[in-house]
Amino acid sequence: MQSKKFAYVVMAMLVIFSVVLSACGQAATTVAPATEVATEVATEMATEVATEAPAMTQVEVFSWWTGGGEAAGLDAMIQIFKAKFPNIEFINAAVAGGAGTNARSVLATRLQAGDPPDSFQGHAGQELIGTYVKANQLEDLTFLYQQEGWLDVMPKTLIPLISADGKIYSVPVNIHRANVLWYNPAVLTKNNITAPTTLDEWFKAMDALKAAGMEKPLAMGEQWTAMHLMEVVLLGELGPDAYNALWDGSGDWGSAEVTAALGTYAEVLKHVNSDAAGLTWQDASQLVANGDAAFNIMGDWCDGYFSGTAEGGNLGLVPGEGYGWAPPPGTDGTFQFLSDSFTLAKGAPHAEGALAWLKTAGSKAGQEAFNPVKGSICARTDCDATLFNAYLQTAMADWASDRVVGSLTHGVTANDTWKNEINTALGLFLTDGDMAAFQSALVTAATTYPNK
Ligand code: GAL
Repeated sequence: MQSKKFAYVVMAMLVIFSVVLSACGQAATTVAPATEVATEVATEMATEVATEAPAMTQVEVFSWWTGGGEAAGLDAMIQIFKAKFPNIEFINAAVAGGAGTNARSVLATRLQAGDPPDSFQGHAGQELIGTYVKANQLEDLTFLYQQEGWLDVMPKTLIPLISADGKIYSVPVNIHRANVLWYNPAVLTKNNITAPTTLDEWFKAMDALKAAGMEKPLAMGEQWTAMHLMEVVLLGELGPDAYNALWDGSGDWGSAEVTAALGTYAEVLKHVNSDAAGLTWQDASQLVANGDAAFNIMGDWCDGYFSGTAEGGNLGLVPGEGYGWAPPPGTDGTFQFLSDSFTLAKGAPHAEGALAWLKTAGSKAGQEAFNPVKGSICARTDCDATLFNAYLQTAMADWASDRVVGSLTHGVTANDTWKNEINTALGLFLTDGDMAAFQSALVTAATTYPNK
C-alpha cells in the first residue's frame, strides 16, 4: 500500500517536471504513459499545474515558405515572435512549393475538415475576399487594427483589398512586385546587349543570344511561373487600364487586343527552356544566375534568393553585379503588386497564439526583420529604408510613384475558382498550343466565375 502511494508520488513529480519543462519552452510535448494509474495522476496533476502556472500555449502558422529566400525570411520573423512571446510555442506548418501550389490544396482540405491551422498565409485581394471570407473561414481582425494603431501605418489602398463589409480580415506583412525582368549582367555585357525596354528589343536580344549559342535565353519553371509570365505579358501588351478591365468585368477577354497579347505570349514562350515544367522558381532563377539563361520574369522573392546568404539556401550575389533587374517590356511605370498576409482562422484551436503571431506580423520590428531577407518591402509605411538592398530601394521608390495593378497568379485579381479555370486552360494551351481554344476558355472562365 505504502509503496504504491510512493509510486504515485514519484510519478506525479515526474509529470509535474515534464509539464514545467514544457512551460519553460522545452520540447517536452510527450508524457510517457507508464501505467493507467500514472495516466490518471498525470491528468489530474497537469490540470492543477495548468491552472496555477501561466499557460504554455502554441500557435500553428501555415505558409509555403520553405525554400531559398522564403524560409530565411519567415525565420527572421519567427525570431522576433519568440523574443516577444517566449511562452508561446511556434509550430511552423509550412508546406513546400512555390506560390503555394501544394500548400493551398493541403489548406483547403484542412479547412474543409474543420481542422484549420491557427493562422494561415493568404494573398490580399480576391484570394482572401473572394475565397476565404466568402466561405466564412476567417475571423474579423478590425479590433486588432484599432488596438495596434495599424490604420495609421498600413497603406490606405491596401485596406479595401483585405476587407469586406467594413471588416478587416488579415494582416499584410509585405508588398511584392510581380513584374520584374531579372537578367544576368555579365551575359548581357559579353553579348553587347543592354536591358531591353521594348518588346522588340527583348526579342532582338533573345535572338542574338540564340545566335551566340545560348539555346533558351529565357528561364521558366513549373506551370504557375508560366501563368506569372502570362500576366506580365498581358499587362505589358494591354497597358494597366485594359489589364484592370479584364478583372473588373468591363473588359472583353475575347477582344482582338487580347488575341494579340496572347500571340505575344506564345512568341515569348518559344524562348523558354524545354524542361520548364520540372523546375521550381528557384531552379529557373538559378539558370539566370549561372549564365545558362539570360532572363527570367519572376516576382521579387527572386531578390531574396539571389542576394540572401548561402547558409539560408540562397545564392549570395551582389545586387546589380551578380544579377540585374528592369521593368519587363511595356510595364515601366506600373507596379504589378501582391501582398502576403496572415489571418486568424475561424475555429482556430489557439486563437490567443494566433493573435500574438499577427501582432508580430503587423509590427515594425517584425516587418523590418522579415522583408529585407524575403525580398519584399514592408506593407507598413514606416519601415527604415536603409535596411533594404539596392534592388528593394528601387521597389520602394516605384511602389510610391508607379501606377499599381494586381497580380493574377498571386491572388489579387481573381477569386480562386476563376483562377483555377484559367490555370486549367493554360495547362492545355502549354501542351497543345491551341490559341483559339485557350482564348475561348478564358472568355468562358471570366463570364462563369467573375469576382463578386
Ligand atoms: C507567392 C508569395 C510570395 C512567394 C512566391 C513564391 O505567391 O506571395 O511570398 O512566396 O509565391 O513562392
